[in-house]
Amino acid sequence: MRPVAVPGDVHVAPLTPARWADLEALFGPGGACGGCWCMWWRRTRREFEAAKGDGNRRAFKAVVRAGPPPGLIAYRGGAPAGWCQVTPREVLPGLDRSPLLRRVDDVPVWAISCFFVKADHRGYGLTGALIAAAKAFARDNGAKVLEAYPWDARVRKSPSTIFTGWAATFARHGFRVVARRVSRRPIMRCALDTFAPPEDGGKGTHEGGPAGGALRRPLRGS
Ligand SMILES: CC(C)(COP(=O)(O)OP(=O)(O)OC[C@H]1O[C@@H](n2cnc3c(N)ncnc32)[C@H](O)[C@@H]1OP(=O)(O)O)[C@@H](O)C(=O)NCCC(=O)NCCS
Repeated sequence: MRPVAVPGDVHVAPLTPARWADLEALFGPGGACGGCWCMWWRRTRREFEAAKGDGNRRAFKAVVRAGPPPGLIAYRGGAPAGWCQVTPREVLPGLDRSPLLRRVDDVPVWAISCFFVKADHRGYGLTGALIAAAKAFARDNGAKVLEAYPWDARVRKSPSTIFTGWAATFARHGFRVVARRVSRRPIMRCALDTFAPPEDGGKGTHEGGPAGGALRRPLRGS
Protein backbone atom coordinates (compact mmCIF):
# COMPACT_ATOMS: atom_id res chain seq x y z
CA MET A 1 0.00 0.00 0.00
CA ARG A 2 1.32 3.39 -0.86
CA PRO A 3 1.92 5.77 2.04
CA VAL A 4 -0.66 8.54 2.15
CA ALA A 5 0.27 11.96 3.46
CA VAL A 6 -2.09 14.88 3.11
CA PRO A 7 0.03 17.72 1.81
CA GLY A 8 -0.10 20.95 3.75
CA ASP A 9 -1.44 23.07 0.91
CA VAL A 10 -4.83 21.34 0.74
CA HIS A 11 -7.93 23.44 1.22
CA VAL A 12 -11.48 22.05 1.14
CA ALA A 13 -14.57 24.18 0.44
CA PRO A 14 -18.30 23.58 -0.13
CA LEU A 15 -19.46 23.66 -3.75
CA THR A 16 -21.38 26.92 -3.97
CA PRO A 17 -22.49 28.50 -7.28
CA ALA A 18 -19.40 30.74 -7.13
CA ARG A 19 -17.25 27.61 -7.35
CA TRP A 20 -19.07 26.00 -10.29
CA ALA A 21 -16.30 26.94 -12.72
CA ASP A 22 -13.84 25.14 -10.43
CA LEU A 23 -15.96 21.99 -10.56
CA GLU A 24 -16.10 22.19 -14.36
CA ALA A 25 -12.31 22.55 -14.46
CA LEU A 26 -11.95 19.56 -12.14
CA PHE A 27 -14.45 17.28 -13.88
CA GLY A 28 -13.39 18.21 -17.41
CA PRO A 29 -15.54 17.66 -20.51
CA GLY A 30 -16.35 14.09 -19.44
CA GLY A 31 -18.13 15.32 -16.29
CA ALA A 32 -15.69 13.31 -14.09
CA CYS A 33 -16.50 9.99 -15.72
CA GLY A 34 -18.79 9.01 -18.59
CA GLY A 35 -20.84 12.22 -18.57
CA CYS A 36 -21.95 11.61 -14.98
CA TRP A 37 -21.63 15.05 -13.39
CA CYS A 38 -22.46 13.36 -10.07
CA MET A 39 -26.03 12.61 -11.16
CA TRP A 40 -25.71 8.80 -10.93
CA TRP A 41 -27.43 8.40 -7.56
CA ARG A 42 -30.00 11.13 -8.27
CA ARG A 43 -31.55 9.59 -11.39
CA THR A 44 -32.97 6.31 -12.60
CA ARG A 45 -30.69 4.43 -14.98
CA ARG A 46 -32.94 5.41 -17.89
CA GLU A 47 -32.93 9.12 -16.96
CA PHE A 48 -29.19 9.00 -16.46
CA GLU A 49 -28.51 7.43 -19.84
CA ALA A 50 -30.79 9.93 -21.59
CA ALA A 51 -29.06 12.90 -19.94
CA LYS A 52 -25.45 11.64 -20.06
CA GLY A 53 -23.10 14.52 -20.73
CA ASP A 54 -24.61 17.95 -21.12
CA GLY A 55 -28.02 17.02 -19.68
CA ASN A 56 -26.42 15.81 -16.48
CA ARG A 57 -24.13 18.83 -16.39
CA ARG A 58 -27.09 21.21 -16.58
CA ALA A 59 -29.04 19.22 -14.00
CA PHE A 60 -26.18 19.22 -11.51
CA LYS A 61 -25.57 22.91 -12.10
CA ALA A 62 -29.23 23.49 -11.17
CA VAL A 63 -28.72 21.45 -7.99
CA VAL A 64 -25.74 23.64 -7.08
CA ARG A 65 -27.57 26.85 -7.95
CA ALA A 66 -30.56 25.84 -5.80
CA GLY A 67 -28.30 24.87 -2.87
CA PRO A 68 -27.46 23.83 -0.24
CA PRO A 69 -23.97 22.79 -1.42
CA PRO A 70 -24.12 19.11 -2.49
CA GLY A 71 -20.48 18.41 -1.72
CA LEU A 72 -16.95 19.62 -1.21
CA ILE A 73 -14.11 20.59 -3.51
CA ALA A 74 -10.50 20.01 -2.45
CA TYR A 75 -7.92 22.43 -3.79
CA ARG A 76 -4.26 21.43 -3.90
CA GLY A 77 -1.82 24.23 -4.37
CA GLY A 78 -4.81 26.44 -5.18
CA ALA A 79 -6.01 24.24 -8.07
CA PRO A 80 -9.27 22.25 -7.95
CA ALA A 81 -8.06 18.69 -7.38
CA GLY A 82 -10.74 16.58 -5.71
CA TRP A 83 -14.47 16.27 -5.08
CA CYS A 84 -16.80 14.40 -2.80
CA GLN A 85 -20.58 14.46 -2.80
CA VAL A 86 -21.94 14.71 0.76
CA THR A 87 -25.68 15.19 1.28
CA PRO A 88 -28.63 13.84 3.20
CA ARG A 89 -29.10 10.30 1.92
CA GLU A 90 -32.70 10.93 0.85
CA VAL A 91 -31.66 13.18 -2.06
CA LEU A 92 -30.01 10.11 -3.64
CA PRO A 93 -32.85 7.69 -4.48
CA GLY A 94 -30.46 5.52 -6.49
CA LEU A 95 -28.98 4.23 -3.24
CA ASP A 96 -32.31 2.67 -2.29
CA ARG A 97 -32.64 1.10 -5.74
CA SER A 98 -29.33 -0.69 -5.19
CA PRO A 99 -29.77 -4.17 -3.69
CA LEU A 100 -26.38 -3.80 -1.98
CA LEU A 101 -26.80 -0.26 -0.69
CA ARG A 102 -30.50 -0.04 0.14
CA ARG A 103 -31.34 1.57 3.47
CA VAL A 104 -30.19 -0.32 6.57
CA ASP A 105 -32.82 1.16 8.94
CA ASP A 106 -34.85 4.32 9.48
CA VAL A 107 -32.06 6.33 11.11
CA PRO A 108 -31.74 9.66 9.25
CA VAL A 109 -28.25 9.70 7.77
CA TRP A 110 -26.11 11.79 5.49
CA ALA A 111 -24.12 10.03 2.78
CA ILE A 112 -20.68 10.35 1.23
CA SER A 113 -21.67 8.97 -2.15
CA CYS A 114 -18.91 9.85 -4.62
CA PHE A 115 -15.27 10.87 -4.90
CA PHE A 116 -13.36 12.17 -7.86
CA VAL A 117 -9.68 13.10 -7.73
CA LYS A 118 -8.06 14.53 -10.85
CA ALA A 119 -5.49 12.08 -12.23
CA ASP A 120 -2.40 14.16 -11.49
CA HIS A 121 -3.50 14.66 -7.85
CA ARG A 122 -4.17 10.98 -7.07
CA GLY A 123 -2.24 9.09 -4.42
CA TYR A 124 -1.74 12.10 -2.13
CA GLY A 125 -4.45 11.28 0.41
CA LEU A 126 -7.09 13.68 -0.85
CA THR A 127 -9.89 11.21 -0.13
CA GLY A 128 -8.94 11.23 3.56
CA ALA A 129 -8.86 15.03 3.55
CA LEU A 130 -12.31 15.08 1.94
CA ILE A 131 -13.72 12.59 4.48
CA ALA A 132 -12.42 14.67 7.39
CA ALA A 133 -13.96 17.80 5.90
CA ALA A 134 -17.23 15.98 5.04
CA LYS A 135 -17.64 14.91 8.68
CA ALA A 136 -17.32 18.49 9.87
CA PHE A 137 -19.54 19.82 7.05
CA ALA A 138 -22.32 17.28 7.66
CA ARG A 139 -22.24 17.80 11.42
CA ASP A 140 -22.28 21.59 11.06
CA ASN A 141 -25.35 21.24 8.85
CA GLY A 142 -27.29 19.11 11.31
CA ALA A 143 -26.30 15.52 10.50
CA LYS A 144 -26.01 13.08 13.39
CA VAL A 145 -24.77 10.08 11.39
CA LEU A 146 -22.70 9.95 8.21
CA GLU A 147 -22.77 6.88 5.97
CA ALA A 148 -20.38 5.55 3.30
CA TYR A 149 -20.44 2.75 0.71
CA PRO A 150 -16.79 1.89 0.04
CA TRP A 151 -14.99 -1.18 -1.26
CA ASP A 152 -13.51 -3.33 1.43
CA ALA A 153 -10.38 -4.75 -0.14
CA ARG A 154 -7.71 -3.88 -2.61
CA VAL A 155 -9.68 -5.60 -5.35
CA ARG A 156 -8.35 -5.09 -8.84
CA LYS A 157 -10.72 -2.50 -10.19
CA SER A 158 -10.44 0.49 -12.43
CA PRO A 159 -10.15 3.85 -10.62
CA SER A 160 -13.59 4.86 -11.90
CA THR A 161 -15.16 1.85 -10.15
CA ILE A 162 -13.74 2.97 -6.80
CA PHE A 163 -15.73 6.20 -6.82
CA THR A 164 -17.11 5.49 -3.33
CA GLY A 165 -13.63 5.03 -1.83
CA TRP A 166 -11.89 2.32 0.20
CA ALA A 167 -13.18 0.99 3.55
CA ALA A 168 -9.72 1.30 5.15
CA THR A 169 -9.72 5.05 4.56
CA PHE A 170 -13.14 5.41 6.19
CA ALA A 171 -12.12 3.14 9.10
CA ARG A 172 -9.19 5.45 9.81
CA HIS A 173 -11.66 8.31 10.04
CA GLY A 174 -13.91 6.60 12.61
CA PHE A 175 -16.40 4.77 10.35
CA ARG A 176 -17.59 1.27 11.36
CA VAL A 177 -19.33 -1.43 9.30
CA VAL A 178 -23.10 -1.59 9.92
CA ALA A 179 -24.15 -3.88 7.04
CA ARG A 180 -22.52 -6.07 4.44
CA ARG A 181 -24.68 -7.62 1.75
CA VAL A 182 -21.74 -8.95 -0.22
CA SER A 183 -18.29 -9.57 1.18
CA ARG A 184 -16.44 -6.62 -0.34
CA ARG A 185 -19.12 -3.92 -0.14
CA PRO A 186 -19.81 -2.81 3.43
CA ILE A 187 -22.05 0.05 4.48
CA MET A 188 -20.15 2.08 7.08
CA ARG A 189 -21.28 4.74 9.52
CA CYS A 190 -19.74 7.37 11.72
CA ALA A 191 -21.63 9.00 14.61
CA LEU A 192 -21.07 12.73 14.36
CA ASP A 193 -22.35 13.77 17.78
CA THR A 194 -19.29 12.19 19.41
CA PHE A 195 -16.89 13.56 16.83
CA ALA A 196 -14.58 16.29 18.11
CA PRO A 197 -13.55 19.07 15.72
CA PRO A 198 -10.05 18.66 14.31
CA GLU A 199 -7.29 20.01 16.49
CA ASP A 200 -4.71 22.58 15.56
CA GLY A 201 -1.73 21.19 13.74
CA GLY A 202 -3.74 19.35 11.09
CA LYS A 203 -2.70 19.66 7.51
CA GLY A 204 -4.79 21.79 5.22
CA THR A 205 -7.93 23.75 5.98
CA HIS A 206 -11.57 23.60 5.10
CA GLU A 207 -14.50 25.94 5.00
CA GLY A 208 -17.68 24.54 6.49
CA GLY A 209 -20.42 25.80 8.71
CA PRO A 210 -24.13 25.92 8.05
CA ALA A 211 -24.94 26.41 4.37
CA GLY A 212 -21.27 26.34 3.51
CA GLY A 213 -20.28 29.49 5.35
CA ALA A 214 -16.80 30.73 5.94
CA LEU A 215 -15.79 28.80 9.06
CA ARG A 216 -12.20 27.69 8.55
CA ARG A 217 -10.52 25.03 10.61
CA PRO A 218 -7.50 22.84 10.06
CA LEU A 219 -8.01 19.28 8.84
CA ARG A 220 -6.89 16.39 10.94
CA GLY A 221 -3.92 14.77 9.17
CA SER A 222 -4.52 11.27 7.80
C1 LIG B 1 -10.71 6.50 -6.27
C2 LIG B 1 -9.97 7.83 -6.21
C3 LIG B 1 -10.90 8.90 -5.67
C4 LIG B 1 -8.78 7.66 -5.25
O1 LIG B 1 -8.08 8.89 -5.22
P1 LIG B 1 -6.60 8.98 -4.63
O2 LIG B 1 -6.20 10.39 -4.62
O3 LIG B 1 -5.72 8.02 -5.33
O4 LIG B 1 -6.85 8.43 -3.17
P2 LIG B 1 -5.96 8.69 -1.89
O5 LIG B 1 -4.59 9.14 -2.23
O6 LIG B 1 -6.73 9.52 -0.94
O7 LIG B 1 -5.82 7.23 -1.31
C5 LIG B 1 -6.96 6.52 -0.86
C6 LIG B 1 -6.54 5.11 -0.56
O8 LIG B 1 -6.17 4.44 -1.77
C7 LIG B 1 -4.82 3.97 -1.68
N1 LIG B 1 -4.20 4.18 -2.97
C8 LIG B 1 -3.94 5.34 -3.59
N2 LIG B 1 -3.37 5.10 -4.78
C9 LIG B 1 -3.29 3.76 -4.89
C10 LIG B 1 -2.81 2.90 -5.90
N3 LIG B 1 -2.32 3.35 -7.05
N4 LIG B 1 -2.91 1.57 -5.69
C11 LIG B 1 -3.43 1.07 -4.54
N5 LIG B 1 -3.92 1.86 -3.56
C12 LIG B 1 -3.83 3.18 -3.74
C13 LIG B 1 -4.17 4.80 -0.63
O9 LIG B 1 -3.09 4.09 -0.02
C14 LIG B 1 -5.29 5.04 0.32
O10 LIG B 1 -5.48 3.94 1.16
P3 LIG B 1 -5.60 4.15 2.75
O11 LIG B 1 -6.62 5.23 2.95
O12 LIG B 1 -6.02 2.84 3.26
O13 LIG B 1 -4.24 4.56 3.18
C15 LIG B 1 -9.41 8.23 -7.59
O14 LIG B 1 -8.69 7.15 -8.13
C16 LIG B 1 -10.49 8.65 -8.55
O15 LIG B 1 -10.90 9.79 -8.59
N6 LIG B 1 -10.96 7.72 -9.38
C17 LIG B 1 -12.02 8.04 -10.32
C18 LIG B 1 -13.36 8.01 -9.58
C19 LIG B 1 -14.47 8.49 -10.48
O16 LIG B 1 -14.49 8.19 -11.65
N7 LIG B 1 -15.37 9.27 -9.88
C20 LIG B 1 -16.45 9.84 -10.59
C21 LIG B 1 -17.47 8.80 -10.86
S1 LIG B 1 -18.63 9.47 -11.99
